[in-house]
Amino acid sequence: MDIKKVFDNNRTWIEKQLTTDAAYFENLAKGQTPEILYIGCSDSRVTAEELMGISPGEAFVHRNIANMVPNTDLNVMSVINYAVSHLKVNHVVVCGHYNCGGVKAAMEQTDLGILNPWLRNIRDVYRLHRKELNDLTDDTERYNRLVELNVQEQCINVIKTAEVQKAISERGLTVHGWIFDIHNGSLVDLKIDFETVIKNIVDIYKIDSE
Ligand code: CO
Repeated sequence: MDIKKVFDNNRTWIEKQLTTDAAYFENLAKGQTPEILYIGCSDSRVTAEELMGISPGEAFVHRNIANMVPNTDLNVMSVINYAVSHLKVNHVVVCGHYNCGGVKAAMEQTDLGILNPWLRNIRDVYRLHRKELNDLTDDTERYNRLVELNVQEQCINVIKTAEVQKAISERGLTVHGWIFDIHNGSLVDLKIDFETVIKNIVDIYKIDSE
């Protein structure tokens, strides 16, 4: 790919935006009030805005390898804090995807250097759900299920944070676990029962900031 093409594309995009709305960039520059915080995978095939059919300004986005929310990662924790406490998003989404290379790597026994501690967070998810996963004899089914369970556990990591707990009780913020099915482009809501999830962990993770 000729990198110059990107700048040609950009000029075409500007023209297109201005044709439909002459004040498009003027309005964009005024500020952001996104409704959604989207936490997804860095995978080049899994975009954020495009798969949700939304425009710039509608989602605050964080992407990393395998859509992780490690409790000690200053990057994702800062994104959650800013989106929830300052931008006041109403939805936090963790979106995983089938055929995720990060999840696959965590299921193998290869030494990947600096990626080891990152992927170990996924191995921890495997350990938490070892019985269910090991009962699946089909490798693809087990791989897909780990992708789903990883989304669920990262949603729980979101809920563990004080600012999210506060926003849930004060203004009904909701957390969602989704999967992008790369085989057909569909977005699948895992319909995680967060009420039950929260009930089961609240005594351990509740943080009363008052
Ligand atoms: Co991925």
